Amino acid sequence: MTVYAGSAYASLVMGDQVDSGVYTSPEVFEQEMRRIFGRTWIFIGHASEVPNPGDFKTVQIGQWPLLMTRHSDGLVRVLFNVCRHRGSKVCYDAFGNTNSFMCMYHGWTYDTAGALNAVPLLDHMNDLDMSSHGLVKVARVETHRDFVFASLSPEGPTLAEHLGRGTYYLDVMTDRAPDREIHATRPIRYEYDGNWKLQFENYCDNYHPWYLHNSAISVGVQMMKEKYGDIFASSRRSDAIAVERSFGAAHSMTDFAGTRGAMWMDAYSDPAFLEALERRDGPERAKELLDLDWHIMIYPNLLLHTRLNHYRVINPVAVDHTEVTAYACKLGGASDQVNDRLVKNTAHHVSALGEIQVDDMQAFNWVQKGLTSGAVERVNFKLRGGNEHWNDDGEYEWTGASETMMRFQYQEWARLMSDEAR
Ligand code: FES
Ligand SMILES: [Fe+2]
Repeated sequence: MTVYAGSAYASLVMGDQVDSGVYTSPEVFEQEMRRIFGRTWIFIGHASEVPNPGDFKTVQIGQWPLLMTRHSDGLVRVLFNVCRHRGSKVCYDAFGNTNSFMCMYHGWTYDTAGALNAVPLLDHMNDLDMSSHGLVKVARVETHRDFVFASLSPEGPTLAEHLGRGTYYLDVMTDRAPDREIHATRPIRYEYDGNWKLQFENYCDNYHPWYLHNSAISVGVQMMKEKYGDIFASSRRSDAIAVERSFGAAHSMTDFAGTRGAMWMDAYSDPAFLEALERRDGPERAKELLDLDWHIMIYPNLLLHTRLNHYRVINPVAVDHTEVTAYACKLGGASDQVNDRLVKNTAHHVSALGEIQVDDMQAFNWVQKGLTSGAVERVNFKLRGGNEHWNDDGEYEWTGASETMMRFQYQEWARLMSDEAR
């Protein structure tokens, strides 16, 4: 692993060990917001969250209150949710539909493209040029297959350069829908007292499930055996092994195909769903798409799950506090039965009353408390995968659980935290 030595922050990464201050230091957090979230491409939302003109959602990424809108021209905008008069927020709801945003403080009013179109007592103002006092636009906004990303920096790599091979995974995530469109539903939101990177790392941590989630897994396996008997056993291929891949800029994925067995409530069992994919792509590709079981991580704040069909957005609030929103997605062209089950499966897995995510959040809390104690100077990412190699798609690939993805993430973290990164 390359260690970037461009700043004191980069030196906190020492190959397969990382200084515990990267999780606990408010100064590191502040610099992460400036150098990572303030500079690279961050995921804002999926265009299907604002399907109609006038739709909006608000999102807080780090210290930045943002507004994603769809204007009457049909285009999606990403704006700062900050009034140009004296700085209040102008939109206070998580989502909704409106013609305009009126600031609650003195009533300045903006349209959904951010233009300032009403100012109380305008006649009494000193030369206020309304046309130059619209809501501030985020420096760059680009979209790939309706996934909307923003960069607060006017310079730097394009979204396509940033995503690299990630575009392929977002394409497949979308192409699993018979009509090649996914539709986000209202999110599940959870918060934990821990650093934002704990969630990102956890999503590619296939070392922990049999320990941390042991109770949920053992009860689940027992229930599945009682419900499905031998069918459940045969749905898990004995020769299947998870494959992990890292592909540029700290993005990564795990391919679990065949390793996790059937689900209690299989969303894809509606024969019409497979038939629709077969008609479109032929039987072989249709089966592959049906069985797809990927975790995809787009650095620094987007996690996607093909099987439960959701995406999660990580919002760092403070060095020791993080908010995550999980959006179950419906598959365009699939039946209501398929889509209802996808939404329920995401809720069962991810919500505060779900069977899996609560374990992870408890672990995040313990890690944050443990590292804050100062007892441990460095954390370890030493686990290697089997047969690590570069594959034909230019990805670094290996089999089985590892901490290799985390090592790549910290290599990129160190690069971004260095002074000269672009
Ligand atoms: S701060 Fe918004 S109208 Fe005054
Ligand atoms: Fe977990």
